Amino acid sequence: MKTLLDAERLRLGVERMADQIHTAAGDRPITMIGILTGSIVLLADLIRLMNMPLRVGVVQASSYRGGTQRGELVINYDLMPDIVGRDVWLVDDIFDTGHTMVQVIRLMNKLGANSIRTAVLCRKDGRQEVDYVPDIVGFDIPDEFVVGYGLDYQDAYRNLTYLASMEPTDLALNEQDTLNSHND
Ligand code: IMP
Ligand code: MG
Repeated sequence: MKTLLDAERLRLGVERMADQIHTAAGDRPITMIGILTGSIVLLADLIRLMNMPLRVGVVQASSYRGGTQRGELVINYDLMPDIVGRDVWLVDDIFDTGHTMVQVIRLMNKLGANSIRTAVLCRKDGRQEVDYVPDIVGFDIPDEFVVGYGLDYQDAYRNLTYLASMEPTDLALNEQDTLNSHND
């Protein structure tokens, strides 16, 4: 593994994201919804930098394959507060193909949000398959599999304080084990 963004660069990027969200939101109260599990570290850091009226909730987006492969997406919103008429900010760790975000946005619309905006820690270069651009992007990163600061590989490494990219050889070793149930 090699370090892509160290803890200090992450800290500065997250501060910048908090400022941008605050500027975009003005003083209207917002509801920040983190997409589990990858967003937990970002969400915890972001909300403590936001000096404004704020509600916090989570949705879980799980894809039922492990490793680096994508499976069918299941969204569980049992733990989310009522968002009818609310200005929602969705927060996620990474915008890769973009399908997760687009499906969660669709759900928030159905549940009656007044507005929906999005903030992601990183966006992978050249991977997007959807016609949607996040409102706020912390970092644009190369198309490599990254872990740390909430992001996992087979549920490991979320607790790293920095963002690291995995070498193809690290990934190849475990490719056979990718049929596990897996939370993003
Ligand atoms: P998307 O739906 O393709 O945009 O993928 C979004 C989800 O896939 C993210 O929330 C992550 O959980 C997971 N993901 C995509 N790329 C990576 C990566 O490089 N490392 C870890 N998880 C990733
Ligand atoms: Mg995720």
